[in-house]
Amino acid sequence: MMTRPLLIAVMPVRVRQHVNPLSRRFQVPLRVPDWSRVYGRPGQRFHLDVGCGKGRFLLEMAAAHPEWNFLGIEIRLPLVEQARRWAGDEGLTNVCFLAGHAGVGLGELLAALPEPGLYRVSIQFPDPWFKRKQQKRRVVQTELVSILAAHLQPGGQVFLQSDVQEVAVEMAARFQADSHYTCLGQGIENPMGIPTERERSTLSRGLPVYRSLWARPLD
Ligand SMILES: C[S@@+](CC[C@H](N)C(=O)[O-])C[C@H]1O[C@@H](n2cnc3c(N)ncnc32)[C@H](O)[C@@H]1O
Repeated sequence: MMTRPLLIAVMPVRVRQHVNPLSRRFQVPLRVPDWSRVYGRPGQRFHLDVGCGKGRFLLEMAAAHPEWNFLGIEIRLPLVEQARRWAGDEGLTNVCFLAGHAGVGLGELLAALPEPGLYRVSIQFPDPWFKRKQQKRRVVQTELVSILAAHLQPGGQVFLQSDVQEVAVEMAARFQADSHYTCLGQGIENPMGIPTERERSTLSRGLPVYRSLWARPLD
């Protein structure tokens, strides 16, 4: 499908590079919105993007796929505010951005999604937190993997990518260890058709991207 390019002005937003997701201020559960007021058409399939940054990937996806509803979760509030402004400027009614720790209150949030529910999840270039003592800060923990399994519809998919091989291997291992998922591919091209900001910058420097795709099989 041909889509017009989004006219997103590049305005500098000063934000901290990283925040500690384990700090007390991020233990507040994600707010469950009134979906009927958020989306123009709440009864469409949902795509969740975890750690969506400034949301450019989701904004482009939303413009290209009006038949889907998109939900971005991002821990840094200024980025969410920026993403919301851009969505408003573009008049997109099929994308929503929530601020908070994706691992806190996610089950309640997904349980409240209107039908037909969650059909796709992407976790793209999550913060690597290299030091061993910081690994608990990584987004893809075992609990998050099982919460997603509990709410992903049969046939739904999870797409993972990172520029840090260790992180990509760890994420894939966590999905592999959960019997609800089947691996559809590793070392694959990006099946979304739209790259994230981090992906563009990684590829432009000629660096590798490590990807995998998972599915909750049809019952
Ligand atoms: C390296 S950036 C990648 C952004 C985007 N996905 C991309 O590929 O361009 C990782 C993002 O995840 C966010 N993040 C890290 N931990 C998070 C958490 N627990 N919940 C929600 N967002 C988180 C960070 O604030 C950051 O914006």
